[in-house]
Amino acid sequence: MKILVVGSGAREHTLAWKLAQSPKATEMFTAPGNAGMAKVAQLLDIKAEDNEGLLKAAKDFKIDLTVIGSEAPLANGIVDLFEKNGFIVFGPTKKAAEIESSKVFSGALLEKHGIPSAKNAAFSDYKKAAEYLKTQKPPIVIKADGLAEGKGVIIAESVEDAQKAIEGMMQSKAFGASGERVVIQEYLTGREMSFFVFTDGKNVAPTVPACDYKRIYDGDKGPNTGGMGSYTPPPFFNDVMGNIIMKTIMQPTILALADEGRLYKGTLYGGLMITNNVPKVIEFNARLGDPETQVVLPRLKTDLVDIMLAVIENRLDKIKIEFDDNAYVGVVMASGGYPGSYKTGYPISGLDELDKDIMVFHARTKAGEKGKS
Ligand code: AMP
Ligand code: GLY
Repeated sequence: MKILVVGSGAREHTLAWKLAQSPKATEMFTAPGNAGMAKVAQLLDIKAEDNEGLLKAAKDFKIDLTVIGSEAPLANGIVDLFEKNGFIVFGPTKKAAEIESSKVFSGALLEKHGIPSAKNAAFSDYKKAAEYLKTQKPPIVIKADGLAEGKGVIIAESVEDAQKAIEGMMQSKAFGASGERVVIQEYLTGREMSFFVFTDGKNVAPTVPACDYKRIYDGDKGPNTGGMGSYTPPPFFNDVMGNIIMKTIMQPTILALADEGRLYKGTLYGGLMITNNVPKVIEFNARLGDPETQVVLPRLKTDLVDIMLAVIENRLDKIKIEFDDNAYVGVVMASGGYPGSYKTGYPISGLDELDKDIMVFHARTKAGEKGKS
């Protein structure tokens, strides 16, 4: 099979690396990919948000399976376009992916179907949101409705900071249209965990959970990032908790989406808070986590192409998905200054001198001449 992975992050590198191990994978492509992915796939110079460009590539290269790694192309309707044109694609449709791309939608869905989550209040009117804030006790969680590259969540330590946050989102439009509506959410405490499932829209299969580190500095200090590291398995996780998560959260959510006419196929990511052994949803994502994928997929023993085809062909109940018991730790190395402004183009060296049991996954790297960026 000719397989195309869409994206250029370390999650997509990990997906391409794993898919390439399948005996079914005869040729691997990625768009736009990165320098690390060039080892496992042919790079196509097409942006992940360029639907028409990707469709043309799928036609030109006769792609048999396309795998979407990140949220933006999903929200951009890539899956709908590929399906309409008869291509086999792994990921949810635009309507189903709204579970991530609209926090107002996901909050309402969870409430309507009684799925345990942080309590939400949605606002499109700034004045009403400001009035509501006065009734809340800090910390107060403010979320932009739409996608904001992981930056659309503000945890305000005072009502004044919360007011500033909604002003920035709703009036100054700091996140553009994504912040025109906001969700004001109950602050949950406990242990945070990322829980991923595969689903064909009806059958739901768990993977193994992971935790990620969001803050930039050691000791969980400093501003939030896209993720500085991850590990699996979480020491506080066990099979009983896994069953509770599946029965009270993941399966009901997939059923709820089907009920609402938004059949969900692909991977669903539950961002959960475990408070006194009770898991609740903080947010859902319509894809795998980054940097969690980098530690979760190395544990997968089953052929990932087989799993994805079972999802697409509605026969996930017919396949056994197995993971090993190994533990993995992922560390993200980023340019100094991140998540604020930072320089790119520095050379990276020494990657071929690492211990054999260290894997390296690249994000947005480019091949350059030695000594030049
Ligand atoms: P998100 O982008 O929704 O994953 O939010 C970023 C981070 O903010 C999460 O990983 C949590 O650590 C934190 N967070 C988001 N929502 C809540 C909440 N309702 N209660 C506590 N922490 C939260
Ligand atoms: N690890 C956070 C995310 O992928 O959204």
